[in-house]
Amino acid sequence: MIPCQRHLFDIPEDVAYLNCAYMSPLMRPVIEVGNTALARKAHPWELTPDQFFTGAEEFRATAARLIDAPADCVAIVSSASYGIAIATHNLPVRKGQRVLVLDEQFPSNYYPWQRLAEDCGATLTIVAWPEDGDWTSAVLNALTDEVAIAAIPQVQWTSGGRLDLVRIGEACRKIGIALVLDLTQSLGALPFSVREVQPDFAVAANYKWLMGPYTTGLLYVAPQWHDGKPLEENWIQRANARDFASLILYTDDYDAGARRFDMGERSNFALLPAATRAMKQLLEWRVSEISETTGALNRTLSVAAEELGFSSPTEELRAPHYLCLRRKSGIPAELPDILARQKVFVSVRGSSVRVTPHTYNSTTDTERLISCLRQIADH
Ligand SMILES: Cc1ncc(COP(=O)(O)O)c(C=O)c1O
Repeated sequence: MIPCQRHLFDIPEDVAYLNCAYMSPLMRPVIEVGNTALARKAHPWELTPDQFFTGAEEFRATAARLIDAPADCVAIVSSASYGIAIATHNLPVRKGQRVLVLDEQFPSNYYPWQRLAEDCGATLTIVAWPEDGDWTSAVLNALTDEVAIAAIPQVQWTSGGRLDLVRIGEACRKIGIALVLDLTQSLGALPFSVREVQPDFAVAANYKWLMGPYTTGLLYVAPQWHDGKPLEENWIQRANARDFASLILYTDDYDAGARRFDMGERSNFALLPAATRAMKQLLEWRVSEISETTGALNRTLSVAAEELGFSSPTEELRAPHYLCLRRKSGIPAELPDILARQKVFVSVRGSSVRVTPHTYNSTTDTERLISCLRQIADH
């Protein structure tokens, strides 16, 4: 268990921020690194050609450690949608085949597949919401030899339901189905290993559980796709990019591994160092410990909320860091006002309250949430 790390964050005493799935706060050391990095462009004459590469490679190597993959397999992207677009650009789908997504899947991992299916004469198959909350079995049952691609998350974002990607990856390989993962709501908070799951592509935006700035992201590309087509044809992906004097000696060769998929201006002097610093902190804490720590807070919360008429998926079926509390009679309209008055920040969506704590939270925060829920319990 990680002791409360609130001192590393600029969170006022009277704020209970339990909404990491919306956006994590930046840590003080991350802001320091980011400010210094942004200020470097005040003196562009001090920026050397070498620095177009060193920061990017440090980001790549750090991201690789988080997903248990070689750095060569990581591309630097701006968003989850950018990474998914690279997957749709490269994976073959034939007429009559199926592309699998989950019910209520996040739009960035839905629309691109809807478009691909439409363009290829394939069918988009939506795995129905399982009544027993078991997303893993629901996906396993839907993996038939008609399926070309399964594009799924590790955590279903509207329920917190966890998918066993090791079992799903194994089943995909047996049938020959390409596996594409959106890890935005899990990477950094739930252990994940490319070596165990063996996906074809896996993307994560950095601004939630990777605790980095907005508009940074990482994409894992399996070695069998390293000869694929990037979304952009930019100069820095090419094999001769390090020699600034020879850039117009055009070459057909790309830089090694997944680097050809890097977005334009990926050197991103202002944001990448901050994103890297945040990932290093997660590695220091260890993802398994983050999962345990946030899981313990959510466990206490789910027990207290149950007494107030809220239900949540059982611990076997949900991700520890991601608790969605539902109430049969719905959420009274005054709850958002009560929460706002008490400065308790969670996401209220439809009939559910989503609680996603991190290492800056303590039971003081969760007790404040329970006290708000108690106020509506009689409605
Ligand atoms: C599951 C999931 N994927 C991706 C994103 C962000 O997508 P993008 O980086 O394309 O904006 C979110 C944001 O809420 C999300 O919940």
